[in-house]
Amino acid sequence: MFIERLSIKNLRNISQADLLLNKKTNVIIGENAAGKTTILEAVDILSRGKSFRTNKTESLVKKGNDELYIGATAGEKRKKLEIHKSKSKTKIVIDGKEEKRQSALAEGLAVQVIHPNSHFLIEGAPAERRAFIDWGLFHVEHQFREEFLKYNKTLRQRNEALKAKDKNQAKWMEELAYLGEKITSMREGYLDALMPHFAYSKDFIMPDYELLFKYDRGWEKGKSLLAALQDKEDIDLDRGYTSRGPQNADLSILLNNEEAHRICSRGQQKLIANIMLLSQSKGFFEVKKFPSIMLVDDLSAELTLEMQEKILERLFETKSQIFLTALNDSVLADILNEMEANVFHVEHGEIAQ
Ligand SMILES: Nc1ncnc2c1ncn2[C@@H]1O[C@H](COP(=O)(O)OP(=O)(O)OP(=O)(O)O)[C@@H](O)[C@H]1O
Ligand SMILES: [Mg+2]
Repeated sequence: MFIERLSIKNLRNISQADLLLNKKTNVIIGENAAGKTTILEAVDILSRGKSFRTNKTESLVKKGNDELYIGATAGEKRKKLEIHKSKSKTKIVIDGKEEKRQSALAEGLAVQVIHPNSHFLIEGAPAERRAFIDWGLFHVEHQFREEFLKYNKTLRQRNEALKAKDKNQAKWMEELAYLGEKITSMREGYLDALMPHFAYSKDFIMPDYELLFKYDRGWEKGKSLLAALQDKEDIDLDRGYTSRGPQNADLSILLNNEEAHRICSRGQQKLIANIMLLSQSKGFFEVKKFPSIMLVDDLSAELTLEMQEKILERLFETKSQIFLTALNDSVLADILNEMEANVFHVEHGEIAQ
């Protein structure tokens, strides 16, 4: 869903703001420390309950206050989404009714972020890349969330038994293998469907390179997960945790046949991360037929103007609702000012439209 109206209270340096948003493109312009990224964080908090910049609520709540509030009306049906967050409590309200699950907000607002640390998607831990894949599955594959939660619960139970050297650990293995195979085939299917989108963005953004994505499912090739778990049973008992399965999966990324995280410059990593996120957002629209939300913080960091323009072009094609930040008087701000968009000027946490 797109957001039509966004209200923010007591988030970082913003005491109070009400933004009337464009269904397509929203541009946020200001000096350093004005509050640009804070507006993007507001959208992320509303979707996921936390910000791409921090997990700590106390950093987010405006100094001297106890609670932050973010509200929005979203989608054609003008759903009212609200979140109140203090250090000790999160309260979610949807259309006036309190809701226990954070995922109820995320189901409606599918938010992806391109930010100055997006290169972590390439050089960061495998968990970053698994989160990328699982974000897509959570939104487009109806069954995924339930199976994923079941798998993780079973994994926790087995790991506790392994740690306690409890023989009962064996009774979780079959269930774990069954659910793990299911999650794996969903991940593989999802990635297969993304490949044409990857290729399409890659050919435009990095035409001179060969870029390959390979899913490593987290256990040995040519074996069932059950067989892999059985083979490692003694070692797992010794170590106290399950060493094989989709919790260890990774997406290996090869640029000209070499591992991207080993050979890519920071800028190249950012380009690959952009290709991945843009592809995912395009794939999202194709399946769901409604827009996701793309938060793009400081696109100019470490990318040439040519690359920024190419990414913008592909970004607009994704059909997402886009939020872009740019510094006052920057070239990016000039480009964005030319576009059909709602433009917000931020100064010391005050927002003018
Ligand atoms: N909890 C808080 N309470 C009050 N102010 C805060 C809090 N956390 C951060 N700030 C301040 O909020 C301001 C806005 O920060 P933000 O990161 O949104 O700026 P920005 O416009 O994105 O800047 P830049 O161009 O440097 O990225 C900063 O001055 C920061 O010091
Ligand atoms: Mg910023």
